[in-house]
Amino acid sequence: MKSNSQLAIHGGPKTVPDGLKKSWPEITPEDKAAVLAVLERKVLSGVHAPEAVGLEAEWAAYTGSKYVLSFNSGTAAIHSALFALKIGPGDEVITSAFSFSGSFHPILEQNAIPIFVDIDERTYNIDVAQVEAKITDRTKALLPVHIHGLPADMDELLALGKKYGIPVVEDACQAHGATYHGKKAGTIGAMGCFSLNVTKNFSGGEGGFLNTDDEALAERAKMIRTFGERVGKEKEKIRPYYSHTIGWNYRTQELPAAFARSQLKRLDKYNQIAQRNAVYLTRELADVPGILPPYVPPDRTSIYHKYRVRFDPSVWNLRASPVEIRNAFVAALEAEGVAATLWHVTPLTSFPIFETLEGYGKGCPWSCPFYGKEIRYNKSDYPRAQHLLDTSFVINDEANPIYIQDVELMGHYVAAIRKVVSRIDEIL
Ligand SMILES: Cc1ncc(COP(=O)(O)O)c(C=O)c1O
Repeated sequence: MKSNSQLAIHGGPKTVPDGLKKSWPEITPEDKAAVLAVLERKVLSGVHAPEAVGLEAEWAAYTGSKYVLSFNSGTAAIHSALFALKIGPGDEVITSAFSFSGSFHPILEQNAIPIFVDIDERTYNIDVAQVEAKITDRTKALLPVHIHGLPADMDELLALGKKYGIPVVEDACQAHGATYHGKKAGTIGAMGCFSLNVTKNFSGGEGGFLNTDDEALAERAKMIRTFGERVGKEKEKIRPYYSHTIGWNYRTQELPAAFARSQLKRLDKYNQIAQRNAVYLTRELADVPGILPPYVPPDRTSIYHKYRVRFDPSVWNLRASPVEIRNAFVAALEAEGVAATLWHVTPLTSFPIFETLEGYGKGCPWSCPFYGKEIRYNKSDYPRAQHLLDTSFVINDEANPIYIQDVELMGHYVAAIRKVVSRIDEIL
């Protein structure tokens, strides 16, 4: 099924016309007015400041959570959740081998040990069938990640948590507004954490949230946000500045909070665009030889923070490794004008830190006497995550994500993929 035109990498015409891609984030006159109003008000920071408080209330209303705390990043929110659970030296936290650094750093920051589990290759999320074997008497939390905006298998994870008395904290940093059995991601476990980093479907530039229905957890998480201080509901006339425990400075600021409040009004719209485009891509790519569109189980919705497509190299019969094929395929797509990207080429467990075990120094937290166990992170222990990343790519890049594009652009992307696949033996 060869098409007439040469591949763009070999001098043929580009499939995707210039000027169709919309850049992210979308910034409207309303966004600008919201930010300007902060400058005019001259209140730029503070946990009781109006934009931070307003943003928390609006996110609580959107998600249906009783308590929401705003943070200056998703990583800070996850750290605060683990702190609230009193996770510390000698403890283990189980998470997915395929995620972003922000999932495991908070575990190390609490002096605890990340234990990784390989993924389910269809959903790209933690493989729940492998979790139980990793639970020990040290396990103090399960930290599933709703990767690319698709909720993990929460029922099974909650059942395991119940069986062993372990709380589940959701890393919902990529999943604002995704649902699982009709419930919003990030509101299902004991706590849920979100990122407002600029790449996300819901952006504040930077920022984060911790959601929970548990008042005691919310109160404790609040302490880490401001130097271990006990911060009340209202601003005190005289702040005592007493640190009751170790804490950080994890507050958000008024400018990003105001921007986020304005963006939140359009989150549903962006998620709907992402879903429309993803449904279109999945339908159109289903019959392209060797291409495997992402799978969404029927009991949940994805917000497609990233639309990751797998390929089956055996169908193409090329004399090259999957990684060589992947790189050549993405280069060919980029030449055709597709915003294609990889976003991570290895599981977290292949990051140098898990070889050097360079943490707080002197081997901590791994060599901490409270742990007293030796742990090795073998790269070969997470074959499905590695295989996924060797044989997949993401349609969209962070500057031009699918949650803002017209379906017309998706049509050109499909044409480009079909063209490259029809001349697949020419890409290498
Ligand atoms: C899955 C995941 N976890 C954690 C984080 C950390 O969020 P942040 O970058 O806001 O610290 C991110 C985002 O970047 C993420 O994608």
